[in-house]
Amino acid sequence: MAEGYGYGKTILFGEHLVVYGLPAIASAISARTTATVKGAAKYTLVDNRPATPGYKKGKYEEQVESNRLIYKACGIEVEKTPIEVTLAGDLTAASGVGASAASAAAIARALNGHFRLGYDDARINEVAYEGEKGYHGKPSGIDNTAAVYGGLIWFVKNLQGGANTMDLIRMPKPVEIVLGNTGLTSSTKEVVEAVRRNRERDPKAYERIFAQYQETVVSARSAITKGELKTVGRLMDANHRLLEEMTVSCDELDLLVGVAREEGAYGAKLTGTGRGGLMVALTPGKALQDKVADAIQTEGYVAYKTTIGV
Ligand code: PMV
Repeated sequence: MAEGYGYGKTILFGEHLVVYGLPAIASAISARTTATVKGAAKYTLVDNRPATPGYKKGKYEEQVESNRLIYKACGIEVEKTPIEVTLAGDLTAASGVGASAASAAAIARALNGHFRLGYDDARINEVAYEGEKGYHGKPSGIDNTAAVYGGLIWFVKNLQGGANTMDLIRMPKPVEIVLGNTGLTSSTKEVVEAVRRNRERDPKAYERIFAQYQETVVSARSAITKGELKTVGRLMDANHRLLEEMTVSCDELDLLVGVAREEGAYGAKLTGTGRGGLMVALTPGKALQDKVADAIQTEGYVAYKTTIGV
């Protein structure tokens, strides 16, 4: 029997902008998915992860395909060598927290332990990337990299189709955040397409947005590395304003972002696809984190307390 884990993630800077070759910064969060693998009479998958209602059912087919790709990448035939795989952990399976990548990384690590495959983290990451293909078709690789290595990642998509840039960046110490869930599910494909149309209609506005964002993200990298959290928060606010201009926020996200700031969050923005999904607030210290999370819950929304820079 062996156990493995994979971290969830949140995008701190650059959702949607990353599609156009601008840099994004994502961070692993301390919430993790764990996988336990043990020998069994027949192949079984037990999914005990906490999840947003409807998530597991909606993703079931993709999960089966993802696991098939993982076993294939590891050269394991589960019909010949049956195993029981149990997923658990404190990461709530929901859209926008990298749940699929966390699960793929956890399974890859557990298989590595159980079958003594001798994989290092680089190989675990390759296997987790294969697993991600079951969910996304053409994943960028940022989620599985965060899931396997933890820490923060500076990511630039290669628009020519070559390898993407992925630098691991470190914060001086882990910092508390709150993720607020609007409870609304949106389609990444549709929202990305809406931004593309907006940009076609108003290329001048988007040139300005891209230029402002470029400055924001470069300053953010430097502030994160130095642990200048007030600056990081201010830059998250600036990023949210640009995302609002790009029409990917919505009333519920703006409400939760506003509540978080009123309660003293250093900064807050939507995270991930937008038009629903999650927002992230930078809330250093347990007391501020509790205060912001409580205020979000009081508004009737679910809040997750976790940490970046793990
Ligand atoms: O909702 P998430 O966490 O899967 O993030 C989507 C990020 C986008 O930039 C909107 C799309 C993409 O492929 O980068």
